[in-house]
Amino acid sequence: MSFYKPETVECNGEQFKVLLSQQELENRISEIGEEINRDYADKRPILIGVLNGAFIFLADLMRHISIPCEVDFYKLSSYGDEKVSSGKVQQRKDIDANITGRHVIIVEDIVDTGLSANYIMNIVNRKKPASVEWVTLLKKSEALKYHVDIKYVGFEIPTLFVLGYGLDYAQEGRNLAQIYVLDGELPEEGEKTD
Ligand code: IMP
Repeated sequence: MSFYKPETVECNGEQFKVLLSQQELENRISEIGEEINRDYADKRPILIGVLNGAFIFLADLMRHISIPCEVDFYKLSSYGDEKVSSGKVQQRKDIDANITGRHVIIVEDIVDTGLSANYIMNIVNRKKPASVEWVTLLKKSEALKYHVDIKYVGFEIPTLFVLGYGLDYAQEGRNLAQIYVLDGELPEEGEKTD
């Protein structure tokens, strides 16, 4: 299978370069899958993806999970078409599953300010699950404004706008197989964190 993973990409008139390669993503997602297999053996967790951004990460993560598990989705919107959050979260789709008494793992593409995660936490807790944990592929290390305990973090990244692997810029770029960052925004070459 061939994936769309150029070295640089133009999106909405701006230039982006690779921050995390397909191989780095694959390796880390496989590790997280193994951790979930260990932590949730015999618990039949339900993974709840947060659309739209998490759909690719969730699909890849689930294929590294070898214990019985289920899946459902919330759909939220907060960014609109901008590079900064609108600061308002709107729920566009509820989950269908009954999660009362279930072990829930919420799957996010990226936790930025934590506003969306906080919003979901409130809705999920009202449904009285047995447990709730979070997994996010990316976490912006210095952007958190709302408290959220995230058990599984793929990568801590600088507080910069990123694109690809499900994440969009004005709805473009989700189909990129790697994570990209605005060219010129990284302080120094090689300073990415994992
Ligand atoms: P938060 O509510 O501020 O934590 O933002 C979470 C949501 O904003 C994510 O699920 C993404 O949809 C979106 N988001 C945050 N940072 C970025 C980014 O750098 N690129 C694209 N989307 C982002």
